[in-house]
Amino acid sequence: MKPVEYWIEQLELEPHAEGGFFKEVYRSPDFVASDGLPNRYQTKRALSTSIYFLITDQEFSAFHRLQSDEVWHFYDGDALALHLLTNDGNLKTARLGKNIEAGESLQLVMPGLHWFAAEMTKPNSYALVGCTVSPGFEYSDFELAEKNELLKIYPQHTAIIQRLTRSRASSV
Ligand code: GUN
Repeated sequence: MKPVEYWIEQLELEPHAEGGFFKEVYRSPDFVASDGLPNRYQTKRALSTSIYFLITDQEFSAFHRLQSDEVWHFYDGDALALHLLTNDGNLKTARLGKNIEAGESLQLVMPGLHWFAAEMTKPNSYALVGCTVSPGFEYSDFELAEKNELLKIYPQHTAIIQRLTRSRASSV
């Protein structure tokens, strides 16, 4: 298996706000106007965007949510756990990886408007994956969860929320 540094260098990955490293590799040159989109989108969006995303066991992708569904694709490394908080208060964990017989999936979809997080589950591991969003990704559609707010909504999942959120930096 290639070392993490190999992928960071070759793919020119940069640190991501949610944890891990990324690079946008595709942004459709075509747009949909907001009146062709659900009401939650206030302005036009690219038809689709796609990124490389790399995460190691040294960090995690903190609970966050997007307006659009996000399709995750597995490329290399070890399996990644994706944790999704459902509207009925459950936690669904699925593994993105290539050991299909062990229940892993090469593609997983994180539905829009749902809190989800990602982490490696074994020491000295990383996963190189892709994340495709349609309509395309905008930072205004991206919301990082605040630990205490998520704990209030999902007290039954305190342990994982404590582990996979960060406290908001105090603003002055
Ligand atoms: N571009 C910048 N950040 C992200 C992200 O978290 N997901 C997707 N799909 N694209 C991004």
